[in-house]
Amino acid sequence: MKPMIVDHPLLQHKISLLRNKQTGTKEFRDLVSEIATLLCYEATRDLPTEEVEIETPIATAKTKVLAGRKLALVPILRAGMGMLDGMLTLIPAAKVGFIGLYRDETTLQPVEYFCKLPEDIAERDVLVLDPMLATGGSATDAISQIKKRGAKRIKFIGLIAAPEGIEALHNAHPDVDIYVAALDDHLNENGYIVPGLGDAGDRIYGTK
Ligand code: PRP
Ligand code: URA
Repeated sequence: MKPMIVDHPLLQHKISLLRNKQTGTKEFRDLVSEIATLLCYEATRDLPTEEVEIETPIATAKTKVLAGRKLALVPILRAGMGMLDGMLTLIPAAKVGFIGLYRDETTLQPVEYFCKLPEDIAERDVLVLDPMLATGGSATDAISQIKKRGAKRIKFIGLIAAPEGIEALHNAHPDVDIYVAALDDHLNENGYIVPGLGDAGDRIYGTK
């Protein structure tokens, strides 16, 4: 599947607010969570349903419920954590795993420092969360870790991607569907997305 650029007007509006350097930490964090909820809606569009019969106050209705597909959410620390609550708003029963990675500032290569995944991850549909897909190194590495534990159905959910990141992730993991709210122009010489929104982790947690 081609990367899905989810360009709903509500998402575009909220992404514009995120990009603005005047947006403060609290508003930024709230927006990341709201955008994650909207992306979750789109990324779960293909969940299987099954028909059930229920009694309404008026009559019997043949209607649909989720067919019980098991889900796992895996935020990439730190910035991916900002998306977790927004995703859980719509899929509260999902199990949650964590992968800790940071980009080495010089080499831009991901350095892994933590990995804790649900024991039954192999049986679950996995949604990997990270606001930024820049070189694609972090997402590619995280997904390799998840595949090593046996997971087969994986989607990547992000806020903003660079073309370089989409290409790298797709080349490494062509089976992984990519959902983002914006596809930006390019990476700068420091590996930041242009125009992007700056350092997502720092803006969510107010560390700079
Ligand atoms: C950011 C972002 C991604 C990564 C994207 O994390 O949240 O994980 O960079 O870049 P890439 O596609 O080039 O790998 P960062 O390394 O700044 O760590 P943080 O979330 O702890 O701030
Ligand atoms: N990580 C970020 O947080 N922002 C970028 O633009 C690139 C990587």
